Amino acid sequence: MVNRLSVEQQARAAKAYILQELRETEDGRSVLKDKDFFERLDMNFITIFGIFAELYGYRHDCLDQLVDLITMCGKSWQTRSPELRKIDKQRELDPEWYLSNQMVGGVCYVDRYAGNLAGIKARIPYFKELGLTYLHLMPLFLAPQPLNDGGYAVSSYRDVQPELGTIDELRDLATALREAGISLVLDLVFNHTSNEHQWAKKAAEGDPEHSAMYWIFPDRAVPSAFECSTREIFPDDHPGSFIQLPDGRFVWSTFYHFQWDLNYSNPAVFRAMAAEMLYLANIGVDFFRMDAVAFMWKQMNTDCENLPEVHKLLRAFNALCRIAAPSVLFKSEAIVHPDFVVQYVDKYECQLSYNPLQMALTWEALATRDVSMLSQAIERRHNIARGCAWVNYVRSHDDIGWTFSDEDARELGKEGANHRKFLNAFFVNRHPGSFARGVPFQDNPRTGDCRISGTTASLAGLESMQDHAIERILMAYSIAMSTGGIPLIYLGDEVGQLNDYSYLNDPAKMDDSRWVNRPFYPESRYAERHDPSTIPGKIYAGIRHLIRLRRATEELGGGRAVGFYTGNPTILGYQRPGQSSSVLCLCNFSDESQWIGRDRFLSMPVEAIDLVSGYVINLREAGIHMKPHQYVWLRF
Ligand code: GLC
Repeated sequence: MVNRLSVEQQARAAKAYILQELRETEDGRSVLKDKDFFERLDMNFITIFGIFAELYGYRHDCLDQLVDLITMCGKSWQTRSPELRKIDKQRELDPEWYLSNQMVGGVCYVDRYAGNLAGIKARIPYFKELGLTYLHLMPLFLAPQPLNDGGYAVSSYRDVQPELGTIDELRDLATALREAGISLVLDLVFNHTSNEHQWAKKAAEGDPEHSAMYWIFPDRAVPSAFECSTREIFPDDHPGSFIQLPDGRFVWSTFYHFQWDLNYSNPAVFRAMAAEMLYLANIGVDFFRMDAVAFMWKQMNTDCENLPEVHKLLRAFNALCRIAAPSVLFKSEAIVHPDFVVQYVDKYECQLSYNPLQMALTWEALATRDVSMLSQAIERRHNIARGCAWVNYVRSHDDIGWTFSDEDARELGKEGANHRKFLNAFFVNRHPGSFARGVPFQDNPRTGDCRISGTTASLAGLESMQDHAIERILMAYSIAMSTGGIPLIYLGDEVGQLNDYSYLNDPAKMDDSRWVNRPFYPESRYAERHDPSTIPGKIYAGIRHLIRLRRATEELGGGRAVGFYTGNPTILGYQRPGQSSSVLCLCNFSDESQWIGRDRFLSMPVEAIDLVSGYVINLREAGIHMKPHQYVWLRF
């Protein structure tokens, strides 16, 4: 009978039940007294209820799980500090604040970049000097030692790894960053926990309640059936998607064997992670980087990636934030086929998303000196939902995967598998004339799959001391700064840090080549940053210049880039329309000077100012000549 009621009717009935239950307990009664909470609950309840009913409605305890979830959410709101509530209000009045051209991001490891949290705090003046407004600190929570996948194996979401500091120091850092106008970004690693998390330890002991929080099976039958259609993500660590426990059972672990996938088909897992998320939100996190979102739901006979249920989970998590931590936003980390990447970008899901396609194709164009794929991606794949923004980066702490669509490539006469093979060979310097010094990551001879590790500078030719390396670095960053959204600098790149091969001497790191692009704070390079005669000084001046220009150019904020066909296969073009003026960005990917004829500019005003050089250019006279790797931002 219940099924014949509309979702609204069911939600109303469920809400009445939940309110009744809340009235029965002291916690519940105090939650109910809070007007702000109550209003937000009203607005978002139907979303949460609808998703709960779809995912867990078949369970007899579905409603009770919901009562516990709402109570937890209410209690969390009650502990939210007045200072954070003030931010909640401010951002409610300016809901698209993160689309501003003032936004500039940085990312670093706490230990590698500054030793510990106190060290990060001491670097705030530098972050301000650089112009950052957004700081992503790589995972800093308690994790197994020494193997923890760079912190992505979390043993407790409420404890900081002791060498890095304490949870109070983290709260204090969040406040200090906020006072400096810098938003704090932390990972929400919610696809998996480490095998040392309390939940995992109890599961390993055989406790049924905790075993049910993971995908654990008594024998290989079900795991083998799942593995018929799943992809191997870290084949260097273990084949397939499962590993065997000492008691003979099998547990799902997509990534490393010490990272166990949580089982979100169990509502207790959803509740437990929601509590961890809101706890962290109240520390003062502004953005959660939703780690490895694609893998959160499993379904037999599918590849268990990007399933529709993942979107429901994200929407439900998002709705909980709207109720209890309203200013907190999500950034999705989905390094998958571009068709799937955009599906996570939605105001009600993840307001921000990494732009892995643009990142990879920037490198592709640098290698081929042919901008067709990058141009096509800007034209075809750049547009995202209103109110959302890309996070554009040149490289991250991870490898570079060639996640372009084979269909898109085919239209341009490139065969996906061969082109990836070429790119891999090029970036690990196994191709004549390569300037790059990358290292293969998860080279899988069985599937031919391979990705690339390396710092921006080493990939761009600085390590091999090739001409144009600095220009390539700056041009790649000019693209990230101007295509729309938030640019993200891997800190150290702005002084040209090179690959760090010392990971090869560390048994805990030697099998994971991504450590080559996670160097320690390059002290001597930073010391030279103000000296324009040095390499770090040249790169730093270029990046600072780009940041200053971006922050002075309103057209470069959120929103999208519009393709501009330059007629020259080595020159990329895109436009950033503003309110009353427009900026046309051009980048020459060639090692030679290049030219765009004046006919391409016939529909435009005669003159434009190049914001990068400050010169006025008459495009109608002779078109535009561009030096190797030159970029111009022409305002009309
Ligand atoms: C994300 C992280 C990566 C990590 C993986 C598993 O992709 O960026 O570093 O290995 O998730 O947590």
